[in-house]
Amino acid sequence: MMRAAAATTMKTTPSSYSYLTARKTMTQNNGTPAITIKNHQMDNINNNRRRRRQRILHIVSEGTGRFIVGGNWKCNGNRESVKALVDALNKNIANIEKNCDIYCCPTFLHLNYVKENLDARFKVCAQNSWVEADLVDPEHHYDSTTGAFTGEISAEMLEDLQVPFVLLGHSERRTLLGDTDEIVGKKVAHARYHGLSVVVCVGETLEERENGTTFDVIFKQLKAVAKEIDDREHSSWGSSVVIAYEPIWAIGTGKVATPEQVQEVHSKIRSWLAENVSEDVAKATRIQYGGSVNASNCADLAKLSDIDGFLVGGASLNGDDFAAICNASSVHYKAVGR
Ligand code: PGA
Repeated sequence: MMRAAAATTMKTTPSSYSYLTARKTMTQNNGTPAITIKNHQMDNINNNRRRRRQRILHIVSEGTGRFIVGGNWKCNGNRESVKALVDALNKNIANIEKNCDIYCCPTFLHLNYVKENLDARFKVCAQNSWVEADLVDPEHHYDSTTGAFTGEISAEMLEDLQVPFVLLGHSERRTLLGDTDEIVGKKVAHARYHGLSVVVCVGETLEERENGTTFDVIFKQLKAVAKEIDDREHSSWGSSVVIAYEPIWAIGTGKVATPEQVQEVHSKIRSWLAENVSEDVAKATRIQYGGSVNASNCADLAKLSDIDGFLVGGASLNGDDFAAICNASSVHYKAVGR
């Protein structure tokens, strides 16, 4: 469980390094072999780092936010099938627990219809918003993304339409449409600037998992977001950025990450937030899992302490299944004693 009292994070400060360097020089002058001292000093530094990591992991091993489930409809649907899905979801509303936040991501074309016709319990979420990829803007003044940008949708427009959420950095956009870490960071900061809540997707390929770089990849993706939010005036992290951990090898493949894999990644994401953003943000940020979640496997995953919800693709196109996945919220609260 999350401890109520915030921990003081012990940082290995530059001054402790200079102290050690000074000690090393002194001891070398006294004739003691430098390598012994160096190893000893490195042990101390590594032990401190390890203790700090363990402490942060322990303290922020669980979020405090409401369970949140998203339905990513991707590039699916026509007027008839979207209407049928909206009707099916509305029909299910009475069966869906009240302890869960829910959002649905139709295509831009169907966004307004869904917003007007879906029960207000389901928030609508755009699947993207744009900023200029190669904008050289050291002052972070990319204030307007409206204008001569044929085919794009801006955060300003989503704000105007009162669309509360936007999904950014989905792996399909990263791999098929060229969204880099940097551009995802800019999109997140710009959308936050316009008051949108953001769901930002992170995750590794199978190759990256197998070559042991999962955390390098995810932390780099997170760093790009944190940097832009930090630099961007009037943008903020708050509790309005949801992270969706979606291992690319699990998306649409029927191959779900194991509970151990999910828990490990989620707790490390939370620790990263505690170390690199703040402990308050680490506690408040909801971390969803996405990748072949369905009505049958959601309960097992929901028991994990560090899962704060799901991002669902295929199974979100079926109203009954999606409702069942939303109801995994109760399994989660029971498992973590909330
Ligand atoms: P899936 O998709 O549930 O069909 O695997 C998840 C996603 O891409 O968000």
